[in-house]
Amino acid sequence: MDNQARLIINGGKRLEGEIAVQGSKNSALPILSAAVLVHGESIFHNCPKLSDIDAACRILTRLGCKCRRSGDTVTVDASHISENEIPENLMRRMRGSVIFLGSILGRTGRCRLSFPGGCEIGSRPIDLHLSALKQMGAVITEEHGYLDCQTPSGLRGAKITLSFSSVGATENILLAAVLAKGVTEIHNAAREPEIVDLADCLNKFGAKISGAGESTIRIEGVTELSGAEHTVIPDRIVAGTYMCAAAITRGELILTHCDPSQMNGFIPVLEQMGVRTYTYGDGKIYLNSRKKLTAPSTVRTMPYPGFPTDVQAPFTALCTTAEGTSVFVETIFENRFRHISELVRLGASVKVEGRVCVIEGVKKLSGAKLCASELRGGAALVVAALAAEGTTEISGVNFIERGYESIENALRSVGADIKKISSV
Ligand code: EPZ
Repeated sequence: MDNQARLIINGGKRLEGEIAVQGSKNSALPILSAAVLVHGESIFHNCPKLSDIDAACRILTRLGCKCRRSGDTVTVDASHISENEIPENLMRRMRGSVIFLGSILGRTGRCRLSFPGGCEIGSRPIDLHLSALKQMGAVITEEHGYLDCQTPSGLRGAKITLSFSSVGATENILLAAVLAKGVTEIHNAAREPEIVDLADCLNKFGAKISGAGESTIRIEGVTELSGAEHTVIPDRIVAGTYMCAAAITRGELILTHCDPSQMNGFIPVLEQMGVRTYTYGDGKIYLNSRKKLTAPSTVRTMPYPGFPTDVQAPFTALCTTAEGTSVFVETIFENRFRHISELVRLGASVKVEGRVCVIEGVKKLSGAKLCASELRGGAALVVAALAAEGTTEISGVNFIERGYESIENALRSVGADIKKISSV
């Protein structure tokens, strides 16, 4: 991964054309973790080519799995698991690796991992994951920054109520419960499409999960799982990001290989701003943004099916040139406006007060040197740069590439003047 790579964008070009949306990073990661539970081979299609997916494959290999990619298909053979520790360097590389905790525990009965730190957008605690696993019989000790999770009498089903509908905690409970003794119920479960996709995949392996996508999920433990094939759902966050990119250039876009029914949390906001959208039946959505855009009413990020926190940053970029005052309230993460100061360097007029961001639309943005410091904030800088007059240079491309498969090729294919300068 080239940490010195930069994106060079000459803004002002109207995007027009068609982009095929990649598979969902946030679905592929827990699904790759689920492969650990299978004494055999699993095949996953539509896995996006991203550094975070590569990191997950490195963890699988470290555990003793055979992991290979052919195009968008990743095949994992977990017949022999020889390790139950997630090494510190891989945990530090991707804190989302904590999603392997539930599957390693479910397969081997023990898991050691270094405590996942926080990141740019917040402290990212895992207390809900750990308290749920303890309810299922895990004994967890923490020393020298390491978590040692053991299950002396195996994992057993439990009735778990989450104080917050955490996506990761819901996924780890699902992964630990499918081979546990007895029935597990998750109350106040996350309802994201990625949860449904994970449950669908686990049920193909032979699990007995019902209610995924609702607030209460029921898992009846089984004795073993067998490999299967599964196709990962499209990435709704990447789809939303590209819609913002087209909208800020007053462009016209068709997205294919996506699922518009998963985007009802943010498409109405685009419509309210003056963007026209049309949903076809076959995984296609059309967007036309010829009009002057106006500020939406207050946007609050919420768990699914509300407005997703992961598209907040790209939408704040879009609102920098929308007429009027836009207000965003970030209710999920405590520090998710770090990209705003970079948008101001382009000439945006934005004020941040804690979890509230107020944007006064400006007539134009002008190019500048910017630095991405996290995934979605970095994507927001790309969105804004597409509308900025002149040249914008964005460093920290490695952050953006954690979640967007060759973003420069996707945007160039619909008319953006964008190129990636690698340092190597
Ligand atoms: C997942 O993170 C996604 N990551 C995030 O996407 C996404 O923003 C988030 O869900 C919310 O939708 C992956 O799927 C890999 P949470 P996760 O547990 O599981 C608090 C991206 O850009 N919390 O729902 O970590 C937590 O601090 C990434 O692709 C606890 O307090 O999200 C946060 O404030 C960023 N204790 C809130 O809940 C816990 O034990 C949401 O966290 C767990 C979470």
